[in-house]
Parts: sequence; C-alpha cells; structure tokens
Amino acid sequence: MGTTKQRLSVFVASSFLDEVRAEFDEAFDARFHDGALGEDPLEVLRAESERGAHFDVLLFSLDVEMGDAQLNRLPASVRALATYSVGTDHVDLDAAQRRGLVVFNTPGVLADSVAENAIFLMLGAARRATESLELIRGRRWAGWTPTQLVGVQLAGRTLGVLGMGDIGGRIATRAHALGMEILYCNRRPADSDLFGAGYRSSAAALVADCDVLMIACPSTDQTRGLVDAALLAQARPGLLVVNIARGDIVEDDALIEALVEGRVRAAGLDVFAGEPAVDDRYFDLPNVFMLPHIGSSTLEARLGMGRILIQGLQDWSAGQSASNRVDP
Ligand code: GLV
Repeated sequence: MGTTKQRLSVFVASSFLDEVRAEFDEAFDARFHDGALGEDPLEVLRAESERGAHFDVLLFSLDVEMGDAQLNRLPASVRALATYSVGTDHVDLDAAQRRGLVVFNTPGVLADSVAENAIFLMLGAARRATESLELIRGRRWAGWTPTQLVGVQLAGRTLGVLGMGDIGGRIATRAHALGMEILYCNRRPADSDLFGAGYRSSAAALVADCDVLMIACPSTDQTRGLVDAALLAQARPGLLVVNIARGDIVEDDALIEALVEGRVRAAGLDVFAGEPAVDDRYFDLPNVFMLPHIGSSTLEARLGMGRILIQGLQDWSAGQSASNRVDP
C-alpha cells in the first residue's frame, strides 16, 4: 500500500512558462498569482492568508524583491522561500534565517545556458555585433570591403574569469575550445586543473594579464562595484569586458569612460545595475553589445530550474537534505 505524501501548499508569486507551471501544479497545491496586473503578490498572499489560506512556501523569481521589509510581511505559515534563480542577491538571507525560513535556489541546471550566452556576448563584443546588425538591418550595407567592421579574433587571446564557479568553469571549457588561454580569479585556487588555467589572487592581477574579462561571480558585499576605475586602470589596453553576473559588480561611470576612450575596446552586457533600467549612455556606444538578461532563457534551463525547486522542496518536506538549499 502506498503512503500518501503531504503536498506542500505553495504560493507562486511570479509568472512561469506553461510547461513549468504544469509541473508546479502537479507537484504542489499551488496557488498561481501570475503577476496579475497592478497587484503586489505579497499583498495577495497576505490577504488570502488572512482569509484562512495556508501556504508553506513562497515561490518567486528575480522580479520579486525579498528584503527585510518584504520578509516582515510574510504570513507566519510560510516556512520556506524558493527562488527561481541561481542568484540570491534579491533575498536578504540573514533576515530570512532570523525568521527561521529556509531558502532554495536553482544551481547547476542553468549553467550551460548561461555559459552559452557568455560566449555569445564575448563573440558579439569581439566581432562588433551591434554595428554589424545596425548596418545590415538598417539597409545601409554597401558591400564587402577589407576595412569594414574589423574586430578581434579570440583564438590565441586570454580569457580572465572573475569567479570560477560552476558557470565560470563551463565558460572556460567553451573558451578553451575556441583556442583561448584561461586565467581566473577566485578567493582560492580551484581544485580541478581547468586546462592548466592560471590562478590570479586579485582582480587587478587578472585584468593586467587578460584580453577578455568575464564577470561570473555573484553580487556580494565583496564584489559590488569591484569593476571600477581603479581596476580598469590596471587593464591591458583593448580589454573586452563581459558581464553575465549582476550589473552592480560594474561601476557604469568607469566602464563607460573606458569604452569612450577606447581603453576598453568593447563590452558584452547581459545584466545592468537597476535593471530593467539601463544607463542611457550605453545606447550611444556602438561598441556595447547588450542583451536583456537572457542568460538562462532557454527551455532546457527553465524546465531544469522548476524541477530542481520541486525536488528540493519535496526533499525538505520529507525531512531529507536538499542539494539546492542555500546556506545563509
Ligand atoms: C539569473 O540571473 C539567475 O540568477 O538565475
């Protein structure tokens, strides 16, 4: 005779693909807020709780800020937060811990998609994708010439990965296949060899020795604003800067000045400080190839992200350890 598992009651605050939503629906007693226009999901959660609904889990994504103030508004029944993202910088983890909330995120499952996007951004910056697209889509292309849109080749150049975690490692694998040398900067050297990648103990030492700076570290008190004027002053001339992590790791004033002066040749940006707002000055720079935070926007990653949250929450609910529980 099978045992009946207790189904978790989950308030789903963000909107998800139908496929993902169907799997949440199957796994949980799910109440989908669906980002209804003009309604604050936390207000809806609160109102429904006051009417007697019980929710064990709040499931949300990067579009729902979960700072101390928001955490204070959660109904007492909520014991877990599940963020549909690998980054947790929108969640005040210390405040969540103080409230006894456990937190789950989506590591690993999106790493290949994000790494592919990192290569896309690096190539786009190296090969002047913004100018190329504007030329051809603007119907202004007058024909091939040896001087048109000359970029840089990546083979033989050095990639400096700032933050060699799971995603950084997958970017390094792909960049190695392009013929690049790999350097990286972490708090300590990685255990694995990573194609003989060289270790640099500081971001300044990394930028002094690389042709492409790949920002792949989380946004923390230690990394916020790390890519500033002082760091860029240490860089090799003609550096390419790629940011797939979080916008606030870069000081926009410093990067824009370096791009205007040509000290930084080009940038590939998927993330922006204060997004969805984007510093206006980036739009005037043809050497910026930018995308609207699409790193994990593939069906494979989106499905994987949903499934790892389901698994983690079910393991936790069954009293087992969960691989995607976030340590405060
Ligand atoms: C996307 O940026 C994520 O953190 O999952």
